[in-house]
Amino acid sequence: MYQLTTKRIVLGITGGIGAYKSAVLLRLLRRHGADVRVVMTQNACQFITPLTMQALSGKTVHIESLAQATESAMLHIDLARWADLILVAPASANFIARVAYGFADDLLSTICLAATGPIIFAPAMNQQMWLNAATQDNIEKIKTRGIGIIDPVAGDQACGENGPGRMPEAEDIALLVAKSFTSNKLRGARLLVTAGPTREAIDPVRYISNRSSGRMGYAVATAAIEAGAKVTLISGPVNLPTPDRATVINVLSATEMYSTVMQNITQTDIFVAAAAVADFSLETIATQKIKKTSALCTLNLKQNPDILTEVTALHKPPFTVGFAAETENLEANALTKLRTKKLDMIAANQVGAALGFDAEMNALTVFWDNERKQLPQASKSSIAKTLITLIADKYNEKNTQKAH
Ligand code: PMT
Repeated sequence: MYQLTTKRIVLGITGGIGAYKSAVLLRLLRRHGADVRVVMTQNACQFITPLTMQALSGKTVHIESLAQATESAMLHIDLARWADLILVAPASANFIARVAYGFADDLLSTICLAATGPIIFAPAMNQQMWLNAATQDNIEKIKTRGIGIIDPVAGDQACGENGPGRMPEAEDIALLVAKSFTSNKLRGARLLVTAGPTREAIDPVRYISNRSSGRMGYAVATAAIEAGAKVTLISGPVNLPTPDRATVINVLSATEMYSTVMQNITQTDIFVAAAAVADFSLETIATQKIKKTSALCTLNLKQNPDILTEVTALHKPPFTVGFAAETENLEANALTKLRTKKLDMIAANQVGAALGFDAEMNALTVFWDNERKQLPQASKSSIAKTLITLIADKYNEKNTQKAH
């Protein structure tokens, strides 16, 4: 049984008889937990109605960029960034050719051009069209740009011919899509992730906290599981479903998070600190609700232990990745944290209204040694996948160096 929980998929449908299978594919993707938005070309609407796809997806079906302009002036960018995967099934010979040559003359081709995340095409067409050198050249061209191809299968075709060109069955495509989210890059590695905010009690009913939703840390945990790691997630109070196959330990305060991390750290190969941990807590927590006795009230705060610093000070620290949430001087502040906390890597986010805390999207600049990598704005799940790939590469590099 495969899982697509929390995955956001744009299902593109182009004009071809295989479009009838897209309805079953949509149902399967949704049944396995994916959030799916359907984008159809005008030709696709000749083979299957947008109403069918709307009823099955429970969402508006997008067809033309111009017709959708009133809904959102930047629909193609929004959908391209929203998606963890763009799946075009069926992808006609004409559509493949247009993408190969960079055309952006309808919503679906524009989304493919604007996408920064993974794209998979399931080509389907007459067997001679599939075998034609022009189509094969176009397939090679888009493959070299990183577009995944689910090869068509051979068999009887709707046109009466027999040969390669049929779109595989929806079950097979859904399985390949699920597999595309997994890798073996972290197979066997034990990963500890912190996520969400902490709460510092003031009295029995009040606390100090922050706007972290936990989404970034949960996305990192999920991406690590999909890369084959064994994941323990230490979570502050959030309102998110538990990632499948993660061991989750719930905590409230920074000191609780600190002691839980330290209890688990010796069984950890990679530590990723995505939690927004309170730097201070109350010197004394009032045992009774504080009364409104005067106009001013002073709270005395003391510094909490810095979890990252304590972890990297261990005799045998794991590969340690911190986050830096900054409202200004992103690079300078992140580099200072990388050095002073003795981290292997730091993922810095400029936090603001639409990014970082409690937002759907994020953008990161990742720093390590004297290098850096920009992870452009995308869904947190997509950003986490790229981050985990980067962490896996650097972690494996470090282990190889140690072995020599
Ligand atoms: O949860 P979301 O809504 O998805 O938002 C994601 C996020 C913005 C919270 C996340 O991407 C992020 O940036 N997390 C770190 C937030 C933070 O507290 O940054 P900081 O710059 O204050 O701390 C730097 C690093 O030190 C962090 O890795 C933090 O976990 C760690 N730290 C901080 C304090 C402390 N006492 N101990 C720590 O280990």
